[in-house]
Amino acid sequence: MAGIKIAVLISGGGSNLQALIDAVEQKYLQGEIAIVISNKKEAYGVKRAQKHHIKTSIVDKETYGTREKRDEALLKILQQEEIDLIVLAGYLAILPRSIVENYRNKIINIHPSLIPSFSGEGYYGEKVHREVLERGVKITGATVHFVNEETDGGPIILQETVDVEFDDDINSIKEKVLKIEHQILPLAVKLFVEGRLRVMGNKVKVKTGNLK
Ligand code: GAR
Repeated sequence: MAGIKIAVLISGGGSNLQALIDAVEQKYLQGEIAIVISNKKEAYGVKRAQKHHIKTSIVDKETYGTREKRDEALLKILQQEEIDLIVLAGYLAILPRSIVENYRNKIINIHPSLIPSFSGEGYYGEKVHREVLERGVKITGATVHFVNEETDGGPIILQETVDVEFDDDINSIKEKVLKIEHQILPLAVKLFVEGRLRVMGNKVKVKTGNLK
């Protein structure tokens, strides 16, 4: 599957997008980021993509109007670009069923907690870290998973942990978690590109032999 075409969907700063751009440029993974799609026109991630001469598209309310029209436009763009893999890198919206069905086991999401903790509807971005702090857990982390119809409920590809110290605040947890996100997201995409992921029910078998 070398040389696959990837669409990265974002809503914000795009530090995970940057990790993917770097991974492609450093040839850590064989694939092309064919397009970056944002549902927020002011997202800094759009600028990151432009800096690297990657095609961008804004699919927002202002341009497309209703949810239905936006969903249609998104699917059309993905099909026109002949996308093989969709990566949700801080895309803080729910993908329409039509896309989930058309790209079964071809959509990867990064979530800033150890799923199933602090996940599901309403758990996104900093809200996750706020809940982590309030609950007083000692360990949190990040999860990369395939996307299915259930929010954060798809087969888990990789997880990594970080310790939560007594004096941590939202910013320090966010920073620690982002650091591991920037490792496991490119790694998961690399495993996908190299055909090393096999989905069996709700579990993913990872073939890790000879990984650099
Ligand atoms: C990341 O922490 C990502 O895990 C989270 O949004 C942040 C985006 O940061 N995604 C979710 O919460 C999805 N439910 P970035 O724009 O700097 O990559």
